[in-house]
Amino acid sequence: MLRIEEYKEAFLAYLQKQIAVTEPKNLYEPISYILDLGGKRLRPILVLMGANAFGGDHEDALDAALAVEVFHNFTLLHDDIMDDAPLRRSQATVHEKWDVNTAILSGDAMLILAYKFLESYDGAIYKKLMQLFNKTALEVCEGQQYDMDFETRNNVSVEEYIKMIGLKTSVLVAAALQMGGIIAGASDEDAKKIYDFGLNLGLAFQLQDDYLDAFGDAATFGKQVGGDIMENKKTYLYIEALKHAAPAEKEELEYWYAQTLVDNVKKVSRVKELFVAVGSDQLTRNAIEAYTKKAFSILETIAIPEANSLVLKQFGENLMTRSV
Ligand code: IPE
Ligand code: IPE
Ligand code: MG
Ligand code: MG
Ligand code: MG
Repeated sequence: MLRIEEYKEAFLAYLQKQIAVTEPKNLYEPISYILDLGGKRLRPILVLMGANAFGGDHEDALDAALAVEVFHNFTLLHDDIMDDAPLRRSQATVHEKWDVNTAILSGDAMLILAYKFLESYDGAIYKKLMQLFNKTALEVCEGQQYDMDFETRNNVSVEEYIKMIGLKTSVLVAAALQMGGIIAGASDEDAKKIYDFGLNLGLAFQLQDDYLDAFGDAATFGKQVGGDIMENKKTYLYIEALKHAAPAEKEELEYWYAQTLVDNVKKVSRVKELFVAVGSDQLTRNAIEAYTKKAFSILETIAIPEANSLVLKQFGENLMTRSV
């Protein structure tokens, strides 16, 4: 296998060739804007690594990688509208730079482009990719709806939260790896295992995203720090804080999360203090580690060369310690 950085370079070179601005500009410019803003590119890297891990050629997986990254960026355009987010990758979100209608339609076009990139596969591989991609795309919508529904609920359980992030985030991470496996002709059993590895890695990844949303460094995080608190998102930090809070702390947390029109600076700083006082920041870190370890234990059961699983493991370790 290649080094992680080399997969990223291969993907970026391909992306540059495939994405061009044509008419109408107001449809295509936001697409190249969001795709050029960068990002970690973790899902396309996983598609390429998934192919190589099972002995396939990563170049055969470039179109699938592109499909997954364009789909992911489509979800971000719509997610940023839904979350009222001003910043993405340290720049203005599409609905802020253009407007909401533009972000909706450019997002729609990206969803279609994602499917278009999959047209380059044939026969049984195409069928398997489409089945997985369709199932995953619908699950992401389901997860996103739970995420929105939970904003106005105050009794969300840890189990419901894990189900929600599994759907909105992990299934795409898992599918990325499995798509690579499908292209490389992995057995159904191995394809299922690499999917389960990705599912657990994806849970750790979203928990880390929630953690950074509250405790990340505003100078480097690239998104508005505290955005989840402002939107009353029922993250692991919040759910665990409620579970472990003393009565007065619980009352205060519930007070802040019942508000939408308050001084957000005050709200964010006080809620973060409460998270730390109650220890839900540490509980979140523990959960990130536990899901990462579970992912690694599944990885060990997959019949691939040791050197390949080490690259995948290193990727997981980088995710757990990231600050962006
Ligand atoms: C953001 O995904 C949405 C989540 C599922 C947390 P990433 O953190 O992968 O975003 P980019 O693509 O690197 O910007
Ligand atoms: C993202 O969840 C999930 C999808 C985009 C489907 P978040 O709302 O936490 O992602 P960020 O934090 O805006 O990147
Ligand atoms: Mg969201
Ligand atoms: Mg969001
Ligand atoms: Mg987030």
